Amino acid sequence: MYNIVIFGKPGSGKGTQSEKLIAKYSYKHLSTGDLLRTEIAAKTSLGLAAKGYMDNGQLVPDEVVIGMISSALDNNPNVPGFLFDGFPRTVAQAAALDALLLQKHTQINTVLALQVPNDELIARLAKRGATSGRSDDTDLAIIASRLAEYESKTAPVANFYEVQKKVKVIDGIGSVQEIFAQIDAAINI
Ligand code: AP5
Repeated sequence: MYNIVIFGKPGSGKGTQSEKLIAKYSYKHLSTGDLLRTEIAAKTSLGLAAKGYMDNGQLVPDEVVIGMISSALDNNPNVPGFLFDGFPRTVAQAAALDALLLQKHTQINTVLALQVPNDELIARLAKRGATSGRSDDTDLAIIASRLAEYESKTAPVANFYEVQKKVKVIDGIGSVQEIFAQIDAAINI
């Protein structure tokens, strides 16, 4: 089993590159953002609780997302590997993920850290917000809040995995295919 975390700021291309990785390697894609948006669309109690945080560009509480990931791991026993997208986003989530994977006698193998400057991220998200209907893309103040949450709570996760020597830095500027070529090389060394 080969497990990957795709890591980066909002708009850095995690979802875009995840699609290419899944197409090539058939990993089980676990995007906490997508899982939460599915809960919101279904108007579940979890979705209703998460919506206020997401609409304001704030992280959803750790226990909610850790519970979702724990269920997803249990529900997918026979996959070639997991691709975690948008998770973990706090050091507490990273420690919980290590513990959950250890229970299943596996671990994170590689953390792909996409690097994109903030001006490019803001341009990408605002452009998508014009057409996607994603409520957290339509307001520059909410995009700024997402970036601030990243700096205060998510950036330390990179150090958590650097200590474990698992981080591969990927230049996230360029065409989708050029970036995927770097990713493909990074997971095949
Ligand atoms: P989530 O859904 O994870 O969103 P995000 O991390 O803010 O990032 P995005 O999905 O917007 O960006 P991405 O990096 O996937 O880039 P993408 O490929 O889409 O989280 C949303 C919210 O859910 C959070 O704010 C939080 O409230 C909550 N949440 C989720 N997980 C959580 C957790 N673990 N803990 C707590 N709360 C959690 O690309 C972005 C745009 O750029 C697209 O339009 C794309 O077409 C374009 N693009 C991609 N690549 C390129 C390229 N190379 N060149 C030009 N444009 C490109």
